Amino acid sequence: MKNILAAVLTIAVTVSAMAESVERKIIRIATDNTDLVFEVGPNKRLYQTYLGKKLNNPEDFKNLSWNQYAGSDGSVSTRGWEAYSTSGNEDFFEPALGITHSDGNMTTYLYYVDSSEENVPGGTHTRIRLRDDKYPVNVTLNYVAYTKENVIKTWSEISHQVKKPITMSQYASAMLYFNEPSYWLTEFSSDWAKEAQMNVQELKFGKKVIDTKLGSRAAMLTHPFFEIGLNGPAKEHSGEVLMGTLGWTGNFRFTFEVDNVGNLRVIPGINPYASNYELKANDVFTTPEFIFTLSYDGTNQGSRNLHDWARRYQLKDGMKGRLTLLNNWENTAFDFDQEVLAELMKEAKHLGVDMFLLDDGWFGNKYPRKDDHAGLGDWEVTHDKLPGGIPALVDAAKEADVKFGIWIEPEMVNPKSELYEKHPEWVIEQPNRDTYYYRNQLVLDMSNPKVQDHVFGVVDDILKENPDVAYFKWDCNSPITNIYSPYAKDKQGQLYVDHVKGIYNVLKRIKEKYPDVPMMLCSGGGARCDYEALKYFTEFWCSDNTDPIERIFIQWGFSQFFPAKAMAAHVTSWNKNTTLKFRTDVAAMCKLGFDIGLQELSAEELEFAQQAVANWKRLEPAIMDGDQYRLVSPYDGNHAAVEYLDKSKTMGVLFAYDIAPRFREKLSRVKLQGLDGKQKYLVKEINLMPGDASTFPQNGKVFTGDYLMKVGLDVFGYEHNVSRVIEIIAQ
Ligand code: GLA
Repeated sequence: MKNILAAVLTIAVTVSAMAESVERKIIRIATDNTDLVFEVGPNKRLYQTYLGKKLNNPEDFKNLSWNQYAGSDGSVSTRGWEAYSTSGNEDFFEPALGITHSDGNMTTYLYYVDSSEENVPGGTHTRIRLRDDKYPVNVTLNYVAYTKENVIKTWSEISHQVKKPITMSQYASAMLYFNEPSYWLTEFSSDWAKEAQMNVQELKFGKKVIDTKLGSRAAMLTHPFFEIGLNGPAKEHSGEVLMGTLGWTGNFRFTFEVDNVGNLRVIPGINPYASNYELKANDVFTTPEFIFTLSYDGTNQGSRNLHDWARRYQLKDGMKGRLTLLNNWENTAFDFDQEVLAELMKEAKHLGVDMFLLDDGWFGNKYPRKDDHAGLGDWEVTHDKLPGGIPALVDAAKEADVKFGIWIEPEMVNPKSELYEKHPEWVIEQPNRDTYYYRNQLVLDMSNPKVQDHVFGVVDDILKENPDVAYFKWDCNSPITNIYSPYAKDKQGQLYVDHVKGIYNVLKRIKEKYPDVPMMLCSGGGARCDYEALKYFTEFWCSDNTDPIERIFIQWGFSQFFPAKAMAAHVTSWNKNTTLKFRTDVAAMCKLGFDIGLQELSAEELEFAQQAVANWKRLEPAIMDGDQYRLVSPYDGNHAAVEYLDKSKTMGVLFAYDIAPRFREKLSRVKLQGLDGKQKYLVKEINLMPGDASTFPQNGKVFTGDYLMKVGLDVFGYEHNVSRVIEIIAQ
């Protein structure tokens, strides 16, 4: 079976008109549900002939034609869906690769060389080698098909053997083509405190580009993922949808182009903006990974594909547990000392969470970090604020019986710092223009190996001295401003790319030396949220916006691509018009944390919070490791509902919210999904305030899974800002 699934098919067919036998080379990239098929054309170039629902009959492959969607002149045209289209060819639409050769020639033609397959965890890795016949330029296309999860990961490797460097002006990760009646893009635009906002638009003739030019806080204005509804806007529970995401923590670009005959091409990759990249002979340029799934049952199924894939194969510690925590940023900001922190550690224990996380403001001596104007770069404890240093904090945490984690922002520098005074040449800054500061800081030049050593040293020094530090929150608050690297000299076109590669070098070193230290990826909220960074980070901070109403939308957006396990959410005092219960219920849909002073809470609220932490820990197999069903979208009205079900279908939880219902509006029951139809389940409201009786009509009753999925539960009401959490327990 497996051989058939991932076979490279060579089919001998007779082309009757020419009355001669032609060997056809067909390459099939297959998951359990999807086929991506390529064929070497008569001109020896490589074409995509199919991407869609799995084809069940091997004999059908020979009917796929390399130029089937070429248009009316298809009979004579050499135009097909070239797998990795190049500039200067006869295609006339957006290419994946653009090269200026050392003699100034700007055309590249890639011809098929060979292909191979290898079994890898979860699937099959297919490599297809292509080469230009006039210039020794090689491209290897890589596809890893994850069989069960129905996810394909693809990237390209570019190299050459010409003495002089070549200059690449475009270097996409991959290309995919579709021919459908219509294409509907869902994009995820963003800003500080406004992450993952979903918007839908139809793609018509021409190009739609989604890109960023921010460099380091790279996804601040839009995130590296998208959905394309095929033949209609993407829907949650039905319809065909492509869901794609780029693993790149820097500038990215998605180009969607509808051509003259209505084909759509999707070109994901690094944004080549200000990045003409010089490639030396025999160096291999590896593009970021583009990860996609095709769902035939809407985005809900597509998300579950990606969640399963991420936990199993990509996310750091994807199959391991997560630490609940108490953070101090919203509570104290920069205003704390050792005693205050020691008290907070005791509060963390009292709350029942696993860890205390110390945020910004613990470092700097010549220029202490009293606010965000100074100190970044000087990663030494402020002695008069914390005289016992990190060791005393680790001891206090031990005494309180919680773990200790710490905030860093190691890629950045305040001009008011000893680091900047010592190493101005380590900073990305224009030598001959006024400097533009974002949050009073500048970005260190990560393309410089010495800077990489420094950044690695920030983590290494802390862990060498304090091996019991259990967690890092790694922040990145500034985009790259004043783009110029003293290190890159006359190769400024490499900077945006090599900066990001430099970050990965550091993260690799950290992971190798400290494989068991979990880290949170943060970027002024959720401006870093991609699957390359998440090889090194166990979770990311979705947003500084912890208003629970906003968070319902933000988490809904991110959940399209990331499992709840990768998404950190904290209970804070944002939006005091909502109850602590409401805020906690929303945060409990992700990796739960708190960032609130317990003194702010009444005795009942504290008791509630303790119980909610205990409930969350009991429900971890469903929320962190189970299947997520987005049932009622906040985008569709005044309510929202999300269900989580553990893999054995014995433990589930339904989160339901009334956001702003109209007076006596129609309330629909919520039908659950994924349950075992024959199994009986007890439904029970949890996360109630102490002393409150449940008003959930079906509370404490037992139903079959079939009933719950077909009839549903009355979990919505008319009041604003009300939440209900229903535990679903197999009997
Ligand atoms: C960023 C983060 C916050 C907090 C502050 C500290 O804004 O998103 O969570 O850590 O930095 O300065």
